[in-house]
Amino acid sequence: MYESFELPQGSKPVVYAALARHAEALVEGVNDKVANAANLAALLFHSLPKISWSGFYFLHRKQLIVGPFQGKPACVKIALGRGVCGHAAALRQPLLVGDVTSFPGHIYCDPDARSEIVLPLIKNDKLLGVLDLDAPIPDRFDEDDRRGLEKIAGIWIHSFTR
Ligand code: SME
Repeated sequence: MYESFELPQGSKPVVYAALARHAEALVEGVNDKVANAANLAALLFHSLPKISWSGFYFLHRKQLIVGPFQGKPACVKIALGRGVCGHAAALRQPLLVGDVTSFPGHIYCDPDARSEIVLPLIKNDKLLGVLDLDAPIPDRFDEDDRRGLEKIAGIWIHSFTR
């Protein structure tokens, strides 16, 4: 059973370790990818400072389709290879963009977004989608965020059987 919590003060690894524990509690016993994506998107959006959007895109017929998220309404479809999300999905690699205005092909869903991190969601070698976070300031995300968010992405990936 999930209980509300206060995020600890401290370094990013300390904060992400606490977030991962809360993420585990949120998905415990819930074998549903959409429900778990919804709760994890909300957890990230309401816990991490200086975030303007957090959410999931799911791969469907070679396109990314927006899934559960928190923030302003977003683009619904992103082709593989397009924008930061489509690039990360096509490369199957995390992408950190410190200044989205200088990323060729960046898709402006939120005019306030200045930096972005996207993590591919891969289960049993299959690309399921991406986890995407936007920030209203440049250089919001670093390697600590990548590691911490990869943990959260892994918790989602292992939370459901199909
Ligand atoms: N900026 C993203 C599009 C998705 S939104 O940020 C929610 C991109 O370039 O892929």
